[in-house]
Amino acid sequence: MIKQAIIPLAGLGTRMLPLTSVIPKELLPINGKPNLEYILDECLEAGIKQFIFIISNKKKNIKKYFYNDKFYLKAIKKLKDKRLENEFRKIKKYRKMIKFVFQNKPKGTGDAVLKCKNLIKGNFFLMLLPDDLIIKKNCTKEMVKLYKKTKGSIIATKKVPKKTVSRWGILSLKNKKKNYFKITDVVEKPKIKDANSNYAIIGRYILSKKIMKEIKLLKPGQGKEIHITDAIKNLIYKNEKFYGNIFKGKYLDCGTLNGYINSSIEISKD
Ligand code: G1P
Repeated sequence: MIKQAIIPLAGLGTRMLPLTSVIPKELLPINGKPNLEYILDECLEAGIKQFIFIISNKKKNIKKYFYNDKFYLKAIKKLKDKRLENEFRKIKKYRKMIKFVFQNKPKGTGDAVLKCKNLIKGNFFLMLLPDDLIIKKNCTKEMVKLYKKTKGSIIATKKVPKKTVSRWGILSLKNKKKNYFKITDVVEKPKIKDANSNYAIIGRYILSKKIMKEIKLLKPGQGKEIHITDAIKNLIYKNEKFYGNIFKGKYLDCGTLNGYINSSIEISKD
């Protein structure tokens, strides 16, 4: 079973400045709830028991969010507010499930995942990018189901407009069924002419522990970063099974200011 989830949170959030100069983008509220909590709730519902947060010295506020007991206890004593008590209970529940790992140099998603190597217990684990919210239908749950069926690695995917392929990791595929397909190749942010499809990677991955060894072998790729996509590509070339899960929910991009504003609007409609 998939019990552990890695969440890379060390990114600087420069696309969301000035908000992110003091608040980590993952703690910015969407309809009154931090972005990150949507991700945690999705995982909890899908049976995840442990989170590994990759933060940096600049993102220590994320840890503080979960370890502010004195502040809460004082406020609860004074205000006797039910809502506050419930929030504190929820935060303590999350805290018990979180391990923190540090990535002080932003060297990419692959490097972030490798930092968790010694904490991973099972043969497969989940990795989620918190910029990518998926609402209405639990994407992680769908992926766990497909993992159980195929016993392979799973990547969340959706069709994107052809002209936007250079913003995403793009999948090549075969044996397409209604909700999934076999992945035969992947390329990070290709030019339109080099894209084999318009099925894009969205930030949810169920990966085999074998990926750690592959990441270690990588040289920095695009933007001088170590990309998880390149390690995935090499595993596919070594005949590891990878499947694209065409998820049913609605994708919201929270990584840019416009996307973030739009996400708040969409979620408040729910
Ligand atoms: C990352 C991945 C990319 C994926 C995207 C989804 O890119 O590298 O393959 O399609 O997330 O959001 P980033 O958004 O960090 O540029």
